[in-house]
Amino acid sequence: MICDSIADTVGRTPLVRLRHLTAGNGSEILVKLEGHNPGGSVKDRAALSMITRAERDGRLKPGGTIIESTSGNLGKALALIGAARGYQVILVTDPKAAGSFLNYVTALGAEVHVVRKPDELGYQLPRLVKVKELLEKHPDAFWPDQYNNPDNPRIHAEQTAYELLDEVPDLDVLIVAVGTGGHISGLSATLKRELPRITTVGVDVVGSAAFGFPYQPWEMRGLGIAFPPGNLHAHLVDKVHPVTDPEGFATTRLLARAEGLLLGESSGAAVFGALHYASLHPNSRIVAVAPDTGVNYLGESFEDDWLDERGILVQMKERDLFTVEGLLAAARDPEYATVLLAHTPEARELRKSA
Ligand SMILES: Cc1ncc(COP(=O)(O)O)c(C=O)c1O
Repeated sequence: MICDSIADTVGRTPLVRLRHLTAGNGSEILVKLEGHNPGGSVKDRAALSMITRAERDGRLKPGGTIIESTSGNLGKALALIGAARGYQVILVTDPKAAGSFLNYVTALGAEVHVVRKPDELGYQLPRLVKVKELLEKHPDAFWPDQYNNPDNPRIHAEQTAYELLDEVPDLDVLIVAVGTGGHISGLSATLKRELPRITTVGVDVVGSAAFGFPYQPWEMRGLGIAFPPGNLHAHLVDKVHPVTDPEGFATTRLLARAEGLLLGESSGAAVFGALHYASLHPNSRIVAVAPDTGVNYLGESFEDDWLDERGILVQMKERDLFTVEGLLAAARDPEYATVLLAHTPEARELRKSA
């Protein structure tokens, strides 16, 4: 394959069937490896989509500047595509970002500002304040605004969903970790139209307010947000599974050791959600999206000391989450039950019969 730009290598990611982390009841979990994108995550698709649209409608001029708030992967994607297309990229992040992120984006020539003072809801709003300040200094800059830009979900509706339908036309369930809501909203829009019987499950981290639950801090990176994002189209989501840090980290580690899948923390959370769903629904075909590669977190979430410093290792021990058998038992009986969203026909039926 000869490409004119690294941007042409975004997409067409593979699916891998889980062989050891399974419910053993005829259900099948396929994991879509978005870490195979050139920047190592699902965010390459959103970055490419938002940049391309801004170029077309003149919001981003040749040689222009891109400014964005990011906890990691969107920044990597913007730095990569920005370098390939000749833009200056300025990123605003916070100390929770994976250590590898700063090295990656600076290697690609991006400028990084780290916001060190959280407010009562963490770093997301202070990061946006810094973005606004930078935009005043660079009035011609393009701000993708990943939380609200419709070109974020649009690429998943127009491209990622059709990749999935080509590979798994008889998909029963889609399980997606939620951050901005971009990939769950875009994928669900197309898949619900093409496969009306599909169930979509949003995996959130306990503490995230994406679906309106009360905010409290968490440790996993990539998923979770302190406020419901504009790009989360909750009417397209049937169920929400709040996954705890120990459940997500334990699954991430066992995906690596038992399956040879070195994936990020939100992938672990999504697969934990998939294992729970599978345990309740024999013979279902489930796709869980793995948003990024575990290479992003080497020296962190795969290290006992890093988990211990955050109080997670001890919780993993208490719940026996170090073996496949222990994890599967936890997935059958997770710490938080899946929530059925009120707009779904199933919820309406339950209300009628109550
Ligand atoms: C590792 C990881 N997981 C999950 C997500 C959530 O994806 P979305 O923003 O499309 O909801 C992101 C988004 O940045 C991510 O980087």
